[in-house]
Amino acid sequence: MIKYAILGFGVVGGGLAEVMADQSEKLSAAAGQPLALGHILVRHDYPDSPWRSYMTQDFSVIENDPEVAVVAEVIGGVGAAYDYSRRAILAGKSVVSSNKQLVAVHGAELAALAREHGVSYLFEGSVGGGIPLLRPLCRCLSANRIDEVYGIVNGTTNYILTAMDAQGQDFAQALKKAQELGYAEADPTADVEGIDACRKTAILADLSFGWNVDPDAIPTTGITKVAPADLELARALGYTVKLLGRAARTENGCCAFVEPHLVPLGHILASVNGVMNACAVRGSAVGEVVFCGPGAGAHPTASAVAADIADAVRHMADPMVPDLGRPGGKLAPAEELPSPWYVRAEADPEAVKALFPEAEPVYGTSRECGFITRPMPRRELETLAAAVGGRAFWRVLA
Ligand code: HSE
Repeated sequence: MIKYAILGFGVVGGGLAEVMADQSEKLSAAAGQPLALGHILVRHDYPDSPWRSYMTQDFSVIENDPEVAVVAEVIGGVGAAYDYSRRAILAGKSVVSSNKQLVAVHGAELAALAREHGVSYLFEGSVGGGIPLLRPLCRCLSANRIDEVYGIVNGTTNYILTAMDAQGQDFAQALKKAQELGYAEADPTADVEGIDACRKTAILADLSFGWNVDPDAIPTTGITKVAPADLELARALGYTVKLLGRAARTENGCCAFVEPHLVPLGHILASVNGVMNACAVRGSAVGEVVFCGPGAGAHPTASAVAADIADAVRHMADPMVPDLGRPGGKLAPAEELPSPWYVRAEADPEAVKALFPEAEPVYGTSRECGFITRPMPRRELETLAAAVGGRAFWRVLA
C-alpha cells in the first residue's frame, strides 16, 4: 500500500479527497498497488468534515512520514505551495499539482529538483482543468513539431463572456455567479485581467517549444475592456468574443500572448461556452487537434490531479517529469504578428472605407460601427484605427 497526502483543502482539495475515495479501486489499479490517503494539510479546523481524522496543520508530519510517496499540492500561489513542494521532493516524494502559478513560475526548477531526486513532478490539472491536455501534448504528439497552441484556457472569463453574449448579463452579474460556482480565483483580478490565462499559456509554450518562458514576458490583456457593444457588433459580423491564450512559432521565434479575440461563429472554439475550455494544437504531422472539456471546478480538476497521483505511483521506478524547457527563452514580439483586426469606431462608412477599403462596417444599437480589417501588425492597426476614431480593437482569429 502506498500513501498520498493532499496539501490544501479548498475547492480542488475537497474535490480530490472525494474523487480519490469514489474511484479508489480504479485508481489503485492504475497505480499498480493500493492507494490510501495519509494526510490532508489544512490551515484551520474542519470539525464536521468526514476527513477530519486525516487532517494536520503541520507539514512536517507529511514530510517525515515514510509511507507517503506522493504529495498533491492544491494550495495555489507561490508561497507555502513552493516551499512544501520543494521539501516534499527533497524528502523523496513525488509531487503533483494543479497550481498553474507555481508551475509557470517555478515549474522548471521543481522539475529539475525532481529529476535530481528520482521522483515524479506532474501537473496535468494546471492547464485546462479536467481536460487531458498536457500528457497528450507531450507524449501522444511527440512526433510533431508544435507550431501553435491556442485556446480558451480560463473558465471564469469564458463563463462571463458567454453570459454577456447569450443572456445579456452585465460583467458584474456574470462575475458574481462565476464566483458563487467556485470557478473564479479568490481574487478575480487574476481571471478577468488574463493573468491566470497567461500562466497557463506560459506552461503550454514551455512544453511546446522547449524554452522556459517567463509568464511576466507574455503580453496580456484581460476582458475588462470588452464592452457589450463589442459582443453585439461581433455577432452582427458573424463572430463571438473569446479570451484566447496563444503561443506560436513564427519566423522571428516563438511568441505568446493573451488577448480577447473575435472568433468566427463557425470555428470550433466559438461553441465552447460557459466554464468549458478548449485548446487547439497545430502539429507538423497531425495537423490541428482540439482538446475540449471542463476547465475549472472541483471534480474536473481533481480528475486530472488524481490520475497524476496514480501515474506517479505507477512510475516510482521510472519517474515522470515533463520537460518545461531550457531557461532563458526569449519571446518574439507579439505585436509584429500580423492579424486581421476588429475595430469599433464612431465613424461613417465612407471614413472607414477610405482607410480600410476591405471593411464592411456594421452598425448596432449605438452610433458605433464595427468592422474587420485586412491582416496587419498591431502598430499599423493602431495608427489607422486612431485615424477613424477607433474606440476598441481586438485580434480576429483567422
Ligand atoms: N480560475 C480558473 C479558471 C480556475 O476560471 O479557469 C481553473 O484554473
